[in-house]
Amino acid sequence: MRICVIEGDGIGTEVIPAAVTVLQATGLPLEFVTAEAGWGTFQQHGVALPQATLEAATNAEAVLFGAVASPSFPVAGYRSPIVALRRALDLYANLRPTVGARPLTVPDGSPSLVNLLVVRENTEGLYAGRERREDDGNTAITERVITRRASERIVRKAFELAQIRASSDHSRPAKVTIVHKANVLRETCGLFRSVALEVAAQFPEVAHDELLVDNCALQLVLRPERFDVIVTTNLFGDILSDVACAWGGGLGLATSANVGDHTALFEPVHGAAPDIVGKGIANPLAAIGCASMLLAWLADQPGRPVELVHQLQQASQRISTAVQHVIDHGPHTPDLGGKARTHELTDTICDLIALS
Ligand code: NAI
Ligand code: MG
Repeated sequence: MRICVIEGDGIGTEVIPAAVTVLQATGLPLEFVTAEAGWGTFQQHGVALPQATLEAATNAEAVLFGAVASPSFPVAGYRSPIVALRRALDLYANLRPTVGARPLTVPDGSPSLVNLLVVRENTEGLYAGRERREDDGNTAITERVITRRASERIVRKAFELAQIRASSDHSRPAKVTIVHKANVLRETCGLFRSVALEVAAQFPEVAHDELLVDNCALQLVLRPERFDVIVTTNLFGDILSDVACAWGGGLGLATSANVGDHTALFEPVHGAAPDIVGKGIANPLAAIGCASMLLAWLADQPGRPVELVHQLQQASQRISTAVQHVIDHGPHTPDLGGKARTHELTDTICDLIALS
């Protein structure tokens, strides 16, 4: 099973090697092919996502991606390679799970754990790349593209995932919250909303509700335990999933999967973290959590021998159990209040895997 590894910029070059070390410690027959992308690649070669990287990603079963340091000012010829890669591989669903770091006490006094999944449309919306200047550069315009096809498949994915989540945890009723701003963005969010409600009607066993995006942001802060699966458009999902990840212990722990029908790319939610790069203190747990998700996804793909599926599932579980052990008992990097260095966490996880 070939995995394309793209470290990217900044702490991507620190946390992705940690995740690869952990994957190697599982003893699974994985082949790693490294490829480059990002701001450093752009500065060296004049292109942020080289053709060779695109080919390596296309020819692999899955991709493990670190982070890229995209500048917040326009640079001629530069476009975010991760946005381009998601579109090129048609990775239409961005999945960002959050499990609460500790139980919350909700208003009725009962303890309650946050356990939610943001399902974000990943190919269009405000990130469709249709930007221009008019009026001698004094007016900037970004077009928001919403299609029936992309809305339909992302909402269907959300309902299917809600069913799977409920079937593996019977204490949770399946529920999808459809998030939009159709009261103002009547055309784009209007289309997304009406398609979402059509799909919802095809899943009578999954409950659904809808929220305006601003209210959803507030509810994610006030009552995060009320959510199961949230489905929304690209930019809204980007922002809401960062709000949600605060409940899971922050960016050092937040994982994400970019999933299409044939391939998938796994990346920590965090960026290049220029403030800590090179200090050896980046938290590798998000990237290692992504490695666990990658193995679970490989196990779910059709046509594999049963024994291999079993090994993949087991290895995925061993990694996530080890990550949880380190979250609960340390060692912790400074973002979680500890003093440990990246490699100490990686070594601990490899030791735990060897023992399990
Ligand atoms: P960031 O996620 O890089 O950093 C935000 C804060 O969280 C920083 O204080 C950083 O030190 C801390 N942090 C992040 N990950 C951590 C980890 N694993 N361990 C310990 N601390 C961690 O976001 P920021 O500062 O907004 O962006 C920095 C650069 O990263 C920018 O160039 C941005 O374009 C890029 N970026 C790339 C993303 C991607 O590749 N998907 C996502 C977000 C930002
Ligand atoms: Mg983000």
